[in-house]
Amino acid sequence: MKFVRFLMKNAALANVPKHIDHFSKFSPSPLSMKQFLDFGSTNACEKTSFVFLRQELPVRLSNIMKEINLLPDHLLSTPSVQLVQSWYVQSLMEILEFLDKSPDDQSVLGDFVDKLVTIRNRHNDVVPTMAQGVIEYKEAFCEDPVTNQNIQYFLDRFYMSRISIRMLINQHTLIFDGTTNPAHPNTIGCIDPNCNVAEVVRDAYESARMLCDQYYLASPNLELRELGANNKKQPIHIVYVPSHLYHMLFELFKNAMRATIEYHESSCSSLPPIQVMVALGGEDLSIKMSDRGGGVPFRKTERLFSYMYSTAPAPHIGHHQRAPLAGFGYGLPISRLYARYFQGDLQLYSMEGLGTDAIIHLKALSTDSVEKLPVYNKTALRHYKMSQEADDWCVPSKEPLDLAVYRRPSEGRV
Ligand SMILES: Nc1ncnc2c1ncn2[C@@H]1O[C@H](COP(=O)(O)OP(=O)(O)OP(=O)(O)O)[C@@H](O)[C@H]1O
Ligand SMILES: [Mg+2]
Repeated sequence: MKFVRFLMKNAALANVPKHIDHFSKFSPSPLSMKQFLDFGSTNACEKTSFVFLRQELPVRLSNIMKEINLLPDHLLSTPSVQLVQSWYVQSLMEILEFLDKSPDDQSVLGDFVDKLVTIRNRHNDVVPTMAQGVIEYKEAFCEDPVTNQNIQYFLDRFYMSRISIRMLINQHTLIFDGTTNPAHPNTIGCIDPNCNVAEVVRDAYESARMLCDQYYLASPNLELRELGANNKKQPIHIVYVPSHLYHMLFELFKNAMRATIEYHESSCSSLPPIQVMVALGGEDLSIKMSDRGGGVPFRKTERLFSYMYSTAPAPHIGHHQRAPLAGFGYGLPISRLYARYFQGDLQLYSMEGLGTDAIIHLKALSTDSVEKLPVYNKTALRHYKMSQEADDWCVPSKEPLDLAVYRRPSEGRV
């Protein structure tokens, strides 16, 4: 019996590339916040959601699995990336088993929910495992700008795909596991149709402050202001995923606190507060966080969103002693993905010598909040095939130019 199972598993594995080819030919279908809410409204239909997901999840998984295969060989072959890849293959196979099952059978629907929970748990550690792969790659091979750019391009798309797949899984499992969330009875899955932005800001601040107090024995205060539509001072609400908003704000608070404390370490004066402004307009809901942490030189601001760069020492998996306010250097890039996932953005404006403004822009209207998803196509393929070309801007010489020496125009140009 064991042997038969072994043979069947191997036969299924052999077919995986065929399935990936098939499903990657479909484009993922982005859902709007409204569609997410409809899936979870009172007359939510589990069957419809099941039929949608057993097609959509393989499509999203296969689209990104195609891109994993395009990574540089040296990165693809690291044990960490191999492990991540095996999780994706396993999860794809498990979902495909539901393709020929009947949506009218209640036990099938129950098994599907259980399977999604298993899949979600399997993928819990994808981010640190992938980050470990990048560290292994960085340590073994010297970096070149083209590979860096490819890895950046890939990881942005890979993590965005992961955020979207987890969103689909969370919605289905939370809505159809037959229970309501006692702490948040009004949420629909993980969406709060009436999310109080200032409350999430305060929650994220308190968590970051606790870490900051533990590590530095001090923390800056929070000054929070809100400006609603037509300059009204009432609390601002939005249809959003509070956990996503919390994630972004928590990361920004950790960065702002670390910068504030380290910049004012030697001065005896009290720490300048972190100021947060929440503003609601007709189209955007924006949250600005300003710190007086000394800022970052302009030359370095682009790097801050890079997966290959952090000023904190690289942590290793399994190492428990690490700076709690800084880790893999993924705080900013992943937060920006959360903001972009529903068509928003996250930007940083820094003035070296003063401090940093970090701004989260979200769509104020739920009809504008539609998933932003990567699709595997010729344009994506072209990104990975890009070769290194000469810079089309002059690179200034490090040596001062000696204008006293006269050269005829033809000299030096053979
Ligand atoms: N408010 C800020 N003031 C000054 N420097 C900042 C600020 N925010 C970010 N930085 C710089 O940007 C770098 C990248 O930030 P990011 O949050 O992405 O990673 P990290 O804080 O190093 O690690 P992680 O967030 O993963 O724990 C930081 O290491 C820090 O040097
Ligand atoms: Mg950080």
